[in-house]
Amino acid sequence: MQDFFNSELASEENNMSLKDKLIADKMPQHIAIIMDGNGRWAKGKGKFRIFGHQNGVSTVKTITEACAEIGVKYLTLYAFSTENWSRPAIEVRALMELLVDTMRKELPTLMKNGIRLSFIGNQSDLPEKCQKQIQVTMEETKDNSRMNLVLALSYSAKWDLVQAVKNISLDTLAGKIDAADINDKLIDKYLSTHWMPHPELLIRTSGEKRISNFLLWEIAYSELYFTEKLWPDFTKEDLYDAIYDFQNRERRFGKTSEQLSS
Ligand code: IPE
Ligand code: IPE
Ligand code: MG
Repeated sequence: MQDFFNSELASEENNMSLKDKLIADKMPQHIAIIMDGNGRWAKGKGKFRIFGHQNGVSTVKTITEACAEIGVKYLTLYAFSTENWSRPAIEVRALMELLVDTMRKELPTLMKNGIRLSFIGNQSDLPEKCQKQIQVTMEETKDNSRMNLVLALSYSAKWDLVQAVKNISLDTLAGKIDAADINDKLIDKYLSTHWMPHPELLIRTSGEKRISNFLLWEIAYSELYFTEKLWPDFTKEDLYDAIYDFQNRERRFGKTSEQLSS
């Protein structure tokens, strides 16, 4: 009898989603994701890389929905880096088309779910069609307040830091700011991420353990989570796994463990 109950309990435990174990009070406000592995996923199936990107879009939808459901306020996705411009032209073109297409198709879903879409990155480098669709989508979704979905497009952290330094210099020369007042809070204000909190959790899929020029400044104290899963295979449960792991870490910010518990 005892065994029966124990095995019943064990199987109930197994069926329980990690979602139920997440602590609402400890939910990260901002999750950033380096969505990697689309190409390898497609190659593994004997398909072209773009097939991987197309399937990656489904994961974007699933993960956005999951984040909105559990109360994450900001989700930043690395979709195209400054360095990705050096990929074969045919892949770049296909990615840009996929992007414009997805923005157009998903607008009703964004509206229905109260999701505001924003962008960070060097927009002037994007094809005109893409820039226009970005403007339309941002404008349409600007009053949505359930969650912010931020796409990093033609983005790199070094690009952002360079434009921030340039603007700080210009404002210093113009007398708008005093060089003595330059501190980390001021630098925050000049970055394209100035309107959002820094991510508490950064996830990278595909097994690579590098940052690839993403949010260098903003992840100074983020918890890093790496998974072998390729982006098209990444599920809601994988996301809960990452958040569960995050919630069980001790974030010390330079202090000692004893200081935190007292
Ligand atoms: C990530 O997948 C998506 C983009 C960088 C646009 P990749 O295209 O980098 O896939 P892998 O890393 O080659 O497998
Ligand atoms: C990082 O992935 C950029 C995006 C996910 C958009 P990459 O696949 O381009 O990164 P590296 O070149 O392997 O570091
Ligand atoms: Mg990659």
